[in-house]
Amino acid sequence: MQENIQNKEDPLDLTLRPKTWDDYVGQEKVKDNVKIIVTAAKQRQEPPSHMLFYGNPGLGKTTIAHLIADEIGADFKITSGPAIERAGDLAAILTNLEHGSVLFIDEIHRLNRVVEEYLYPAMEDFQLNLILGSGPMAKTMTLEVPKFTLIGATTRLASLSSPLRSRFGANFGLNFYENSDIEQILHRSARILDIETEQDAFPVLAECSRYTPRTANHILQRVRDFAQVKGQGIITKQIAQDALSHLEIDNIGLTANDTRILQAIISKFGGGPVGLQGLAAATAEEQNTILDIYEPYLMRLGFVARTPKGRIATKLAYKHLNIIPPKNQTPLF
Ligand SMILES: Nc1ncnc2c1ncn2[C@@H]1O[C@H](COP(=O)(O)OP(=O)(O)OP(=O)(O)O)[C@@H](O)[C@H]1O
Ligand SMILES: [Mg+2]
Repeated sequence: MQENIQNKEDPLDLTLRPKTWDDYVGQEKVKDNVKIIVTAAKQRQEPPSHMLFYGNPGLGKTTIAHLIADEIGADFKITSGPAIERAGDLAAILTNLEHGSVLFIDEIHRLNRVVEEYLYPAMEDFQLNLILGSGPMAKTMTLEVPKFTLIGATTRLASLSSPLRSRFGANFGLNFYENSDIEQILHRSARILDIETEQDAFPVLAECSRYTPRTANHILQRVRDFAQVKGQGIITKQIAQDALSHLEIDNIGLTANDTRILQAIISKFGGGPVGLQGLAAATAEEQNTILDIYEPYLMRLGFVARTPKGRIATKLAYKHLNIIPPKNQTPLF
């Protein structure tokens, strides 16, 4: 199972994934709290309590899980919510753990409810209550499982059932990064990938990285290709700007798709409010894609706001798109 998930991982993520706490830039509060939990557990010679990490894609959930396992010197097993289809799959995973293993369940909000029920006693008492047979002859068998630390990751905290959420000893939200952190990450990536980059190109790249390390690394890679083909292989400020406009990424990281969503809210729904379903239909995008990819960044920029009646485009969005709102369409914010 480990191989399956690892293979699905982006090769660039694997190459650039920080191996030390110092290389894991930003998220200082989360790092501090995690280190306290791990250090205290090490002193007591116990596995640390179960931890849940939530946040948008590419903000470093999988990376921090690896760092925790390295820090405690534990065996690291990786799986995902949808990969554990039946109670038997869970039993196989848990009974094969070593004492003190870290079990990482990615997309934990997609775990099915039946499997979840089996997971509770495993998290609380390191026991599995298996039901053998069915009907009046059914028997329950209790299996001990090695003590382990569960690390869950999700992009959708709200989709996690509250019983599951409450069984984690600690919940951590990863936030968007500061541009200065993104610049630091880009410096490290350029060094590892051996990409010559001029100093004044870094802020240009950081500005359009959506405050997200994975996006920053992808942009760096695309701009490197452009520099190699259209320039001298060196990323200068000018090359960075040219490459970005070639990629249809604007100076604050909006892609043609983001702009399409904003324009739909403005021109098809009079600036909003519009519900998720309506917006998805009007833009031919999946609701999940809007929720996970487009909307968080548009909201962080302050271009879209959520009201009880739906999403609305803000004054800032009109300004960025150079649209003067008609008199009957004055944005609320
Ligand atoms: N704090 C950080 N410092 C430096 N690089 C980081 C940091 N966080 C993430 N990265 C980079 O971004 C890549 C993606 O991070 P990661 O795979 O941990 O994200 P994720 O939150 O698990 O995303 P997803 O929800 O898509 O699984 C990493 O491989 C690494 O290169
Ligand atoms: Mg991940």
